[in-house]
Amino acid sequence: VRVSDDRAELDVGLIHRFLSEDSYWAKGRTREQVEASIEASVCVAGYEPGGTGTDEQVAFARAVTDSVSFAWICDVFVVPKARGHGYGKQIVGAILEHPSVTGVRNVVLGTADAHTLYDGFGFVPIDSARFMRRGAAGPSF
Ligand SMILES: CC(C)(COP(=O)(O)OP(=O)(O)OC[C@H]1O[C@@H](n2cnc3c(N)ncnc32)[C@H](O)[C@@H]1OP(=O)(O)O)[C@@H](O)C(=O)NCCC(=O)NCCS
Repeated sequence: VRVSDDRAELDVGLIHRFLSEDSYWAKGRTREQVEASIEASVCVAGYEPGGTGTDEQVAFARAVTDSVSFAWICDVFVVPKARGHGYGKQIVGAILEHPSVTGVRNVVLGTADAHTLYDGFGFVPIDSARFMRRGAAGPSF
């Protein structure tokens, strides 16, 4: 899959549709909220050649980061029809290798069931005695 970090190329409609309807963590997120989150993040997306001549977005991930001490990886997905071909690993690899993320001291994320996907990139369970959180508990991130 071709990976790009160009925000202008993103299919915001597809991202909003997936997150608001199909994800377990961002149900009901509005189009305006999705646009604001994209604007404030480093974004990577995967594209496949589409039938109409333009490439079709099939994968997405973003990072909220100061590029030095902290990065939050989130909104990782591959569209259902493109799953099982390594695109998930590719898009996670791409966001972690992005110049604004690679070298960041604390890279964290939340996941309900994809721990083994992230194991391979060196993620380990959080040292919960040192981290605190504020905000909605439960499945939303
Ligand atoms: C998770 C997801 C991005 C994986 O995409 P994919 O392109 O099918 O993934 P890949 O083909 O790169 O394979 C992912 C690897 O992680 C593993 N994995 C671990 N947890 C997984 C999970 N919950 N779902 C899918 N794969 C998972 C797979 O078994 C596979 O390992 P393998 O290569 O050793 O067999 C995709 O299933 C998806 O979009 N799911 C819905 C949204 C989601 O849960 N996102 C992650 C939120 S943290």
